[in-house]
Amino acid sequence: MSEEQPKQDHRSRPDSENFRAFIAADWAERDLSGVRPLEAAQYAAPRRTALAEKFPEQTLVVPAGGLKVRSNDTDYVFRPHSAFAHLTGLGADREPDAVLVIRTGEAGSEPEAVFYFRPMAARDSEEFFADSRYGEFWVGPRPVEEDIRRELGLDARHVDRLEADLAADADRLRVVPDADRDVTELVRRVRGDAADDASATERDDELAHACSVLRLVKDDWEADQMREAVRATGRAFDAVIENLDEAVRRGRGERWVEGVFGLHARHAGNGVGYDSIVASGDHANTLHWIRNTGDLDPNELLLLDAGVELDSLFTADVTRTLPIGGTFTDAQRKVYDAVYAAQEAGIAAVKPGNKFGDVHAAAIRVIAEHLHEWGLLPEGVSVEDTLAPEGQYHRRWMVHGTSHHLGIDVHDCALARREEYMGAELVPGMCLTVEPGLYFKADDLKVPEEFRGIGVRIEDDVLVTGDGCENLSGFMPRTSADVEAWMKRLRG
Ligand code: GLY
Ligand code: MN
Ligand code: MN
Repeated sequence: MSEEQPKQDHRSRPDSENFRAFIAADWAERDLSGVRPLEAAQYAAPRRTALAEKFPEQTLVVPAGGLKVRSNDTDYVFRPHSAFAHLTGLGADREPDAVLVIRTGEAGSEPEAVFYFRPMAARDSEEFFADSRYGEFWVGPRPVEEDIRRELGLDARHVDRLEADLAADADRLRVVPDADRDVTELVRRVRGDAADDASATERDDELAHACSVLRLVKDDWEADQMREAVRATGRAFDAVIENLDEAVRRGRGERWVEGVFGLHARHAGNGVGYDSIVASGDHANTLHWIRNTGDLDPNELLLLDAGVELDSLFTADVTRTLPIGGTFTDAQRKVYDAVYAAQEAGIAAVKPGNKFGDVHAAAIRVIAEHLHEWGLLPEGVSVEDTLAPEGQYHRRWMVHGTSHHLGIDVHDCALARREEYMGAELVPGMCLTVEPGLYFKADDLKVPEEFRGIGVRIEDDVLVTGDGCENLSGFMPRTSADVEAWMKRLRG
């Protein structure tokens, strides 16, 4: 489950019998009275029932994953697999090495769920004082079985029992295969899979796929989590603007902005939902610019694509493109207003009955129209020509798609098939981004000089409603004039 730790024999640890007896003694009993049911857990139960309906009379294994070594004896902060988080309600850094097992009965019956995990060891154990990865002296108290029962309302067992318990269900096991290599191997061993057993792999992939598409439509609690993630993101953007002058002054201002946003994300929630893209000037034309090493120049734009992830792991994903000096130049405004018009068209297309792909079609048409009007498409190519599959010249300046599903993963429901994603009808409860952009690289000889080095994206998070959508991030200024007023207000 966890990756192997290197041996640390250069460090000295007290090891005498006397010491062991001494350190194990005279600790107060842990008080469990403060352990409360986790609100998110009550929403996880109906999700398990919905999943069970797809796999009657089977045993579904959903691992959290293990700690991952960053270097030597330090690990990355733990982040559970999204399917595990969704089906247990646990978020933040919980619970390395845990495995949710769902035993389903006949179609329509309630499944049984058991939570296997590594409980905190007793005070007379080696782990207590000597294990820097799991020990109470090192990482603080961790849950015991009773904590999990109270928090999640699930039967909780030591993970050491997993293999024996799964062996009893060997002919009906499926595992989410990409969550924890060791658990996947354990399941394959218990099932006795042949090395080249494609059908076993396929069955596991079906489970992973079902867990992913289970998140396509958010329940009311998930929608509220998204609202909260976006609200916190709005506050973090405000803080960035308040700190922008200092970021310019200090040099390496992209990093300063990354830090300010990260501070607020970490304070309000679990952290950033993905590495913040802090891209000034021509850096905005590198779509995943996360190096963030640049200075901020008041004559340029700053594209900030960042989102706060709550402790529940639901994340926002918002982009605003800001004139660092406070006012757009004519060329910057021209590009910005084109992207805004495309985004408006995209947002207007977010409504039940439309397909997911219609949002992109609506936005990209407006992008193509502007590029045509500006004379940037090849000679003689009309808007319809470029929109045709054999054209697509306009995509030189917006190679990415307009939308993706959003939730526990920033690119949520990633295992959904094309007909469940691009080709699917939008239904209330779906949460997606609308994020057109235009990217004119500094060395792009096909665009006029005044456009070179300008990159603009505007990204909002929308929730499909009964008759359209709620723009969750719509409270953050979007038009060029409103963005200027926003900056003026916060910078004085
Ligand atoms: N921040 C990644 C994206 O917008 O999809
Ligand atoms: Mn996005
Ligand atoms: Mn984004």
